[in-house]
Amino acid sequence: METKNVINIKNLVKQFPVGGNYFTALQNIDLKLSEGEFIGLVGPSGSGKTTLLNIIGGLDSATEGSVSVLGNYMDNTSHNERAIIRRKHMGFIFQSYNLLPVYTVYENVELPLILNNMESTERKKKVTQAVEWVGLKDKINSKPADMSGGECQRTAIARAIVHEPALLLADEPTANLDAENSHNIMKILSKLNSEISTSFVFATHDEKIMGYLRRIIHLEDGKIINDEKISNPKSA
Ligand SMILES: Nc1ncnc2c1ncn2[C@@H]1O[C@H](COP(=O)(O)OP(=O)(O)O)[C@@H](O)[C@H]1O
Ligand SMILES: [Mg+2]
Repeated sequence: METKNVINIKNLVKQFPVGGNYFTALQNIDLKLSEGEFIGLVGPSGSGKTTLLNIIGGLDSATEGSVSVLGNYMDNTSHNERAIIRRKHMGFIFQSYNLLPVYTVYENVELPLILNNMESTERKKKVTQAVEWVGLKDKINSKPADMSGGECQRTAIARAIVHEPALLLADEPTANLDAENSHNIMKILSKLNSEISTSFVFATHDEKIMGYLRRIIHLEDGKIINDEKISNPKSA
């Protein structure tokens, strides 16, 4: 049944207009993702990972094909509807953390809950829980400028998961981190993935973290060249 798929992409093509012509960034993409999966989009720079992630997240749209995410056909949903789906049911993690510098850890993590109109006692409970999840309780009143890259990315993870999204999308989340912090981040995420039903899609070309993935979709020149199940992934 189609609705059981968190993601169901058929025959996706994405072209970008370039100087009066088109550049094909993705072609013939078919991809299904079931609830709770932990997959990586892996491939060299320019292979189409970010483009695919942005289409899944409704930040960009397909040129051709059908893209169903969490039961919504993205090509038939308006800009506003997509924004609501993102806010309620998705979490995003970026390479550059994208934290608000004037806000504390607490305030950064609280933001998605405010946007979802959650009431303040409930918010406090959820924020505290998410911050504990990523091991940042003692930094809860710190601001990004006073924290390490690893701590900033852990804050970004707490912010991405605080509303318990059905789907978490991460674009090169360890690209700015050293080995120790990269492993920490992956351990936190794989623990989360095994304890809550959130599905994870990662774009990465970081060899250090591949071992944590449970399924690897290899992209090259905008095409899926291999879809590999990992039988014994690393975990926390
Ligand atoms: N807005 C755009 N306009 C034109 N070309 C783009 C645009 N976004 C991405 N591309 C091209 O599409 C290809 C895939 O890019 P991207 O998805 O960012 O790859 P990756 O994340 O794997 O490095 C690249 O060749 C890139 O230059
Ligand atoms: Mg990219």
